[in-house]
Amino acid sequence: MSEVRNAIVTGGSRGLGLAVARRLARDGWRTTVAGRDPESLRRAKEEAEAEQLELRTVQADVTSEDSVRELFAKVTATEPLHLCVNNAGRNLSRLLVRAARPGSAAAEPDGVLRHSLEDWENTVRLCLTGVFLAGREAAAAMIRHQVPGAIVNVSSGLAGGAYGQSAYTAAKAGVEALTRTWSYELGEYGIRVVGVAPGVMDGQALHDKLARHPEHARYMERLKSTIPLGRWAQEDEIADAVCFAAENRYLTGSVIRIDGGGPPGWVP
Ligand SMILES: NC(=O)c1ccc[n+]([C@@H]2O[C@H](COP(=O)([O-])OP(=O)(O)OC[C@H]3O[C@@H](n4cnc5c(N)ncnc54)[C@H](OP(=O)(O)O)[C@@H]3O)[C@@H](O)[C@H]2O)c1
Repeated sequence: MSEVRNAIVTGGSRGLGLAVARRLARDGWRTTVAGRDPESLRRAKEEAEAEQLELRTVQADVTSEDSVRELFAKVTATEPLHLCVNNAGRNLSRLLVRAARPGSAAAEPDGVLRHSLEDWENTVRLCLTGVFLAGREAAAAMIRHQVPGAIVNVSSGLAGGAYGQSAYTAAKAGVEALTRTWSYELGEYGIRVVGVAPGVMDGQALHDKLARHPEHARYMERLKSTIPLGRWAQEDEIADAVCFAAENRYLTGSVIRIDGGGPPGWVP
């Protein structure tokens, strides 16, 4: 009988993370999904059960060092870890600065609105520090159990820079740098580290954002028209790439770009 392989997917309670977790469970991985909201975790588990898929759930916040250490301690106390998918993340649209409308209460005395430090720090903490913390604990667990496992980091097609995306693009560029750096450091333990950089996905996160900011919809339609394949990605199509990265034994240090040919980071 072949050995059961264990996987952790951060941000696995919905969106891409859930699509990855379900696909892993279907492929025979014992899969733990982590997220902050217990209700989303419960729903993810129940919906998977309805399809005879087992998902384990652990409530955890990737921005907290203690919480991440507890997550990995729980999952790897008695079992080895073979895969960590660092997926938790959230886009933030903010211009670095912009000229305020006359009389705007939010403007500073010089009449300029600024990207807040708080927004910058929250985004970098979730999208980059969260990957650092979970990747570090995953590598430690794999070394402790002497498992040649894999870490898959979810980046973004926008990691090279994009209009209105200072914090997010900087964090994702950092994720890609960590991917290469860790592949150099962890190769001697047989641990592979791969990035997956999706284009925009037609999922709940996009729908919620467009509902909150209807004025953003026209910009996104223009952006979509620049994609060679002419449409957004389906979450399952990106989950396929994550699972390929998890399984292919000669892949490390690379970032798989899966973006329908790629929109530019800006359209006029
Ligand atoms: N959506 C896109 O078009 C797109 C494009 C390129 C790249 N990506 C990247 O793909 C990944 C997934 O995106 P998505 O659109 O599927 O996101 P999503 O639908 O918003 O789901 C995000 C997941 O992360 C969890 N999460 C958020 N903050 C967390 C925290 N501090 N600790 C632990 N879990 C946390 C959420 O659960 P809780 O809120 O309950 O914690 C949820 O399970 C992200 O890294 C994103 O940057 C997305």
